[in-house]
Amino acid sequence: MNLIAVRHQQTFTHGHSRPMLIVAEHAAHDTRHEIVLKLAPDVQSGRTGLAIEAICADLATRLGLNAAKGWTVEINADFAASVPDPDARRRLGVAVGLQFGSTFHSGQYHVALADDALNDALIDKAAAVLLFDAMTGNDDRHRLKPNCLVRGDDIVLIDHERALPGLRAELRPAAWEHGGLDVIRNHAFFSGLRGQLPDFAGAAQAWQTVTPLVAAEIVAGVPAEWLDETARARAAHFVVEMTTNVNKVSGLLTEILR
Ligand SMILES: Nc1ncnc2c1ncn2[C@@H]1O[C@H](COP(=O)(O)OP(=O)(O)OP(=O)(O)O)[C@@H](O)[C@H]1O
Ligand SMILES: [Mg+2]
Repeated sequence: MNLIAVRHQQTFTHGHSRPMLIVAEHAAHDTRHEIVLKLAPDVQSGRTGLAIEAICADLATRLGLNAAKGWTVEINADFAASVPDPDARRRLGVAVGLQFGSTFHSGQYHVALADDALNDALIDKAAAVLLFDAMTGNDDRHRLKPNCLVRGDDIVLIDHERALPGLRAELRPAAWEHGGLDVIRNHAFFSGLRGQLPDFAGAAQAWQTVTPLVAAEIVAGVPAEWLDETARARAAHFVVEMTTNVNKVSGLLTEILR
């Protein structure tokens, strides 16, 4: 779904890609949204990184996880030129076109949960996130940088940029391959889940709804300028492969966490 950026609010001071908070409008629906904008020139893997954000945000939502909703945001030249802050104006000026945005979640806090115990209500939710990150190969929700917002029992996922390493031409084994779960020991929720016997059944079951048709739908939502046809087919194939292997991975995770 396309939004058009209409107002620049602020730039986040932290984060390597320094996302911006903007207001954007949905022309067709006449609605306005506060959006955290990620610009391809600022993202390590450029437009592919934006495609990965979009695919993972959509996939997570379909799996029943609470991920910040992903948007395709159009930056037009007039908007970029109108921004008073010189640094933001320059960055937006070289990013005219389609960029990735996520719905801004305010009033939530960002905690380094790394070695914290997880309360009972969070165990299964955290397990579903751990499984999701294992499956998608996201090594970036780790103990030093959780890349999720937690409020009470609610975990909001943001930043999937480092998932799907195969699409970024980064060679790493998939979760179901030998050594594929080594990185998961650094996950933000790993210590909290260790010894808690989390139940992955519900989370694994949710993956069964991700049929080849759904996988095709997810990748079809990614703008053409972020993903070429070959990469698009590869992404859809990988989503299906994840679903095929989810029970194996949830079994392996159960063992590792004992
Ligand atoms: N949808 C959102 N709602 C609220 N805050 C957000 C959202 N997206 C990003 N942020 C804030 O901006 C920070 C940086 O965003 P993000 O992690 O996507 O970018 P990054 O450049 O990868 O940052 P980092 O290097 O810290 O991981 C987050 O840690 C969070 O505080
Ligand atoms: Mg981040």
